Amino acid sequence: MLKGFITGVIATLAIFAIVAYIGVTQGLLIPANADASPPALERWAASRSLHATLAREAPKEANPVALTDANLIDGIKLYGANCAACHGAANGEPSTVAIGLYQHAPQLAKDGVEDDPEGVTFWKVKHGIRLTGMPAYTTTLSDTQIWTIALFLKHMDSLPPGPERVWTSLKNPIAIAPPSAVPRENRE
Ligand code: HEC
Repeated sequence: MLKGFITGVIATLAIFAIVAYIGVTQGLLIPANADASPPALERWAASRSLHATLAREAPKEANPVALTDANLIDGIKLYGANCAACHGAANGEPSTVAIGLYQHAPQLAKDGVEDDPEGVTFWKVKHGIRLTGMPAYTTTLSDTQIWTIALFLKHMDSLPPGPERVWTSLKNPIAIAPPSAVPRENRE
């Protein structure tokens, strides 16, 4: 009786493993294309895992970079060089890269992270977000540079006049997508 049960469990697991192997190797279970919307289960799993990781690992300390005009301007310049291609300039118009990514990159001027703790933004920029186009800057930006960008993103919608001028004159280095390419949910 027990023997039959165990054989049944092993046979079921073996069938699952074979189906999973065939599904993956034939490109059926994990499709490779980026021009699709992520299914609900994938969105749920990715967002639950990200939130749990952030709750555990994002630094809780205050931003060590002081809120001054000079530091905000440094943050804008670092953002322009490293982030604007995907996350856009002040006009909030997505580039062809931002639209083509799977997940689409949010345009931070319209859909910003001012409400997020700066430690959360710091973690996302330092470590990136797996299975999306969001790169990790662990080896390419110093912690101070990442905190400087986090400072700008926190205050993006309430910049003093000097930094605001630098921000509004920043250009997106990548071509802007034609309006017809912008998914409906991202249009004004
Ligand atoms: C190659 C494209 C690309 C570049 C370059 C890039 N990102 Fe991202 N970023 C993404 C994508 C795509 C997402 C969405 C990930 C998701 O859906 O979870 C994202 C997500 C984010 C988020 C989370 C947004 C939210 O609403 O929670 C922040 C913050 C962020 N990026 C900041 C930056 C900063 C700062 C830089 C530059 C240092 C940068 N990114 C560079 C593609 C990019």
